This record gives sequence, structure tokens and C-alpha cells, in this order.
Amino acid sequence: MPYYRRLGDIPPKRHTQFRKPDGGLYTEELMGEEGFSFDSALLYHLNPPTALASIETVDSEVQETSPNHPLRPRHFRTHKLKEGGDPITGRHVLLANADVTISYVACDQDSALFRNATGDEVVYIEEGSGRLESVFGILPFTSGDYVVIPATTIHRWILDDDTTFRALVAEARGGHIGPPRRYLSRNGQFLEHAPYCERDLHGPTELLNIDEEDVDVLVKRQSGITRFTFRHHPFDVVGWDGCLYPYTFSIHDFEPITGRVHQPPPVHQTFEGPNLVICSFVSRKFDYHPLAIPAPYHHSNVDSDEVIFYHEGNFMSRKGSGIEPGSVSLHPGGHTHGPQPGSVEASIGKEGTEELAVMIDTFRPLEIGPGGWDAEDDKYAWTWLEGR
Ligand SMILES: [Fe+2]
Repeated sequence: MPYYRRLGDIPPKRHTQFRKPDGGLYTEELMGEEGFSFDSALLYHLNPPTALASIETVDSEVQETSPNHPLRPRHFRTHKLKEGGDPITGRHVLLANADVTISYVACDQDSALFRNATGDEVVYIEEGSGRLESVFGILPFTSGDYVVIPATTIHRWILDDDTTFRALVAEARGGHIGPPRRYLSRNGQFLEHAPYCERDLHGPTELLNIDEEDVDVLVKRQSGITRFTFRHHPFDVVGWDGCLYPYTFSIHDFEPITGRVHQPPPVHQTFEGPNLVICSFVSRKFDYHPLAIPAPYHHSNVDSDEVIFYHEGNFMSRKGSGIEPGSVSLHPGGHTHGPQPGSVEASIGKEGTEELAVMIDTFRPLEIGPGGWDAEDDKYAWTWLEGR
């Protein structure tokens, strides 16, 4: 995350005495990535964030995955999945590999305090609103937002009551997810060709200033889940600054790049992570060459598995496929895919498309999790057959 922010009170010089009204010192914490060599933030706590009162193993159900074999394109109807739990415990694993876990959640409860110490999370909000509370303060979110949570950020999800919370979650299993490097200058500023910029990224708006004792936090590490009881509430931060913090980016602020002929998926790229990219497909004008074919060409993704989450719209290239809002398609490497029959002709002469979809391409094969098997529409592989 390249954009410097500060919130609350901090001393004028880092690593110097910063005193409370009663004369005592605030505790400075550096949260830094890649061994002090990448993005970091300095946080100032009322109390030491290190005081652990208890440590306990938490038994958690591991959602085992199995290979996509025989190799098939897949379609998962996520709205068929059981609703319940909270934005962390209610996750159904759809797909996963060694780099990322992709899950779907539909729920209406607030979460407990959680720290994912395995990798960054990007949570795309399909429906619902609320706030992500963290050591960095309150981050409001709503439908269409990507909520980006850096690894190890202690946080909890507080949901507004009015509607079910629905979200697609990409959880890196190590490493960090952020804006593509090619969008950034050498010093980290968004360049003119980027489809969004600093003004579109929203950070925490106010601090929580909670001074309580003995607070449980669930900590997820590659080895499993542990419950830490901290002597002092981690949300006792009075100020922070730096380039590492949770933020939101609304898909509605993604400015699509269009051309005379069909533009390839990299123009839709929004984030990059370890062996994965995340792209946004938004409403846009179609190609304007007089003989343009707006539907995408058929393609073989030689080095990637392609996952698309269909949020809303008319999904122009998926006529007759059964794809609906909430659908997730998987087009794996080794499978050539493209528009369903009739979609290419039907696209000619169209002025534009109204759609919202999120694509996650992974560079290693994805396995299928219990949520995927539970939600599968097993007829999808045959929807490219003419006259079906
Ligand atoms: Fe594709």
C-alpha cells in the first residue's frame, strides 16, 4: 500500500518520547512487512500490546479441498450455500491452492476479534454494509467495496442490521495483495494510466480508543488457530501513521479502459498478489471499431485458472449458461473457454454493458472445497454445446 496516512495523535519524531497527560509513556508499535523492508505503520498504544494473559489452542474445522479432476469448467451457485455465522466463521471454501483460499460467506452476525497472520485478505462485499473495526480505527464499508486487510491486523466485522452480509473472500496464504506495481511510479504514486488512484482509496476514519482488560483475539497462523487473551484491549491506539493499514476501494470507482476493439483482461486488473491477480469488470461502453465484436474471443489461459464472481448485470457472454447473480465460474488451465453459443452474434452492435463482476486468476491450479462441491451446477460444462 503506497499511500501515507495518519490518524490521531503521534509525536513529531518517530521513536522518541511520547507522553500521556499523566506523564507516562505511550507504547510505540511498528507493524512492518517483509522484515522491515516493505510497507509499515507506527501505532501508539495506551498500554503495551505484548501483555498476554493466556494462550489456548482452538479446535477448528479444516475445510479440506480436492483436485478439480476430471478437469472440468465449473459453476457454483453461491446463493445456495447455507447462511450463518459471521464474516469469518461463516466462510465456505469454494476453491484453494497453496497461494490463496477463495470462499463465500452469507451471514448476519458480528465477528469476534480476529488476526489473520497467514496473509492479506481482500473481501469483496456483494451485499450489506457496516464497519471493519481494527487497531487502525473504524473503516466503513458497503456493497461493491473491496475491503483490503493486511496480514496480522487485529480486527472485527460489525454489520448493519438491515440486510444479509454477502461477500467473496480471497485470503492469501502468505504474502501481500495490493495495487499492481505497473500502476505505480518508482516512488509509489499512482500513474496516469491506472484505472484508479489515491483519491479512490478510503482508510480508517476514526480511532476506537477502547481501554479494557482481558480481551480474546483469535489468531490464525499456518499451524492453526490460537486464542490469545490480551491483558489490554488492542484497540487502545491513540494515533498511527504510515503506509500499512486496511482500506476500501469501491468497484464503482474503477474507471474502465475501453478501445476500438476488444481489450484484454489486464486492463481490468485491480490488485495483484502472490501468484494471483484480481480484476474488476464494470459497466462500460463497448468497442467502437465499425466491425468490432464486443464479446470476448475464445481463449486458453495457458498458465492460470480463472475464477469469476458475477455480482449483478446481464453477463453478456454467458447467455444460456445458467450464470446468475452470485454465481462463481471456474475456467481452469487446460480448458478453452469463451462466450456461450449465440453470445458473439448477439453482442454485435451493442453500445455497452451493464455488469459488475470480480475475476481472480491464479497461476497455480485450484482445488475445490466443500463450499464448491455443495454449490456446484454440474451441467455447466455442457453449456457450450450448440442446440443443447
Ligand atoms: Fe476468460
